[in-house]
Amino acid sequence: MGIWSRKSAEATLKDGAYKKTKLKRNLGAVDLTALGIGAIIGTGIFVLTGVAAARYAGPAVVLSFIVSGIASGLAALSYAELASMVPVAGSAYTYSYVALGEIIAWIIGWDLILEYAVSAGAVAIGWSGYFTDLLKAIGIVLPRWATSSPLMGGVINLPAGLITAIITSLLVFSTRESSHANKFIVAIKLLAVLLFIGIGAFHVKPSNWVPFAPNGWSGIMTGSAIVFFAYIGFDAVSTAAEEVRNPQRDLPTGIIASLGISTILYIIVAGLLTGMVSFKRLDTPAPVAFALLEVGVPWGAAAISVGALAGLTSVLLVTIFAQSRIFFAMSRDGLLPHVFSRVHAKFGTPYIITIVTGTVVALIGMVLPIGMVAELANIGTLTAFILVSIGIMILRKTQPNLRRPFKTPLVPFTPILTIVFCAYLIVSLPRVTWIRFVVWLATGFMVYFFYGRHRSIASREGCS
Ligand code: ALA
Repeated sequence: MGIWSRKSAEATLKDGAYKKTKLKRNLGAVDLTALGIGAIIGTGIFVLTGVAAARYAGPAVVLSFIVSGIASGLAALSYAELASMVPVAGSAYTYSYVALGEIIAWIIGWDLILEYAVSAGAVAIGWSGYFTDLLKAIGIVLPRWATSSPLMGGVINLPAGLITAIITSLLVFSTRESSHANKFIVAIKLLAVLLFIGIGAFHVKPSNWVPFAPNGWSGIMTGSAIVFFAYIGFDAVSTAAEEVRNPQRDLPTGIIASLGISTILYIIVAGLLTGMVSFKRLDTPAPVAFALLEVGVPWGAAAISVGALAGLTSVLLVTIFAQSRIFFAMSRDGLLPHVFSRVHAKFGTPYIITIVTGTVVALIGMVLPIGMVAELANIGTLTAFILVSIGIMILRKTQPNLRRPFKTPLVPFTPILTIVFCAYLIVSLPRVTWIRFVVWLATGFMVYFFYGRHRSIASREGCS
């Protein structure tokens, strides 16, 4: 009871049918896979691969990608089971409300703000960087004060705010239109990645792979904790549950397919990138385009830059979408103000919370530096993966008879292995990130004890 009250899976499923907060069911398995790839391939591969290779892992960044890919793949299996059992908006937040109780659900919801709103801010900053560079290439130079955060010597990052505003408006008007736009952008992004692979394969010098792991295992693991950012987003698929036509079949497909495709592409790109130029020179804002310039293919570099810009746009679209659905679910449960779960009569979208989310993301993008934001997003996501893994083990015990259209194989082995991998990655992150994370969680507890706890519907209705 009280802070430990749990929602029953049945009551949670009914929420999705509650008419005043009903979303339109427009999406299928292909839309979801595109949504997943849209959320996954972005800053991680286009920007952070270079940082991780140059500073920590060397060419062994390929192994870093494999380690964080395994952690994400294992977590994806648990997400798929929960998403197929409880297909309502809100992802890990909703599942933990059913499995672990309100206070843990709140912590996860609060934690997911790092994974979505905060990481969306980082992606908007990355977008702004590529955009500014591309304009520079055609002779338009934007002033520094208008393109970078006050903490990085500027005043405000206007392009980051602008792209966030455009995407937020798109999401307010229609999920269906946004999904069409997303598929188009995902196609451009995939083409750019394939183009890189096609060109890169002919420009590899094996001597660049020596030394393979200049900083040994610890370098590989620190690299892994950083490139983990590249995998964030597959669970965004599950936040769309109430807008999916056949959620119990399509959600697991969307989650596993999008993660699988992205992982294979990452491993190939990371291997080629470090084979094309010395890893020591990859610490640049656009390493993938840089490598193509270095091997003498400038048109390829230009095409990749446009593709990267498209990629970052789609990540932003999906993460803002996902964050607004999580806030939507939290508001419907009474943990956040009810006005946030109001759905627009004509567009069928949760417009108020979408605008609020867009504003938060724009503010983060306009004033904060990218590095700090990406590390916080990683620690928040890894913690959510751990809590979801605990959640599926508990639900197998407490609700053994609930229908599970997708079952995670080898429970409890798979979730325990997920926890071990994620904990290892958290330990590999810098200490300052842990401290920021603890401060963030403490703030969350205060908001819960002063607001949500008294207004929560589950505890007022006395759910067990
Ligand atoms: N995975 C997303 C990216 O790399 C967040 O941009």
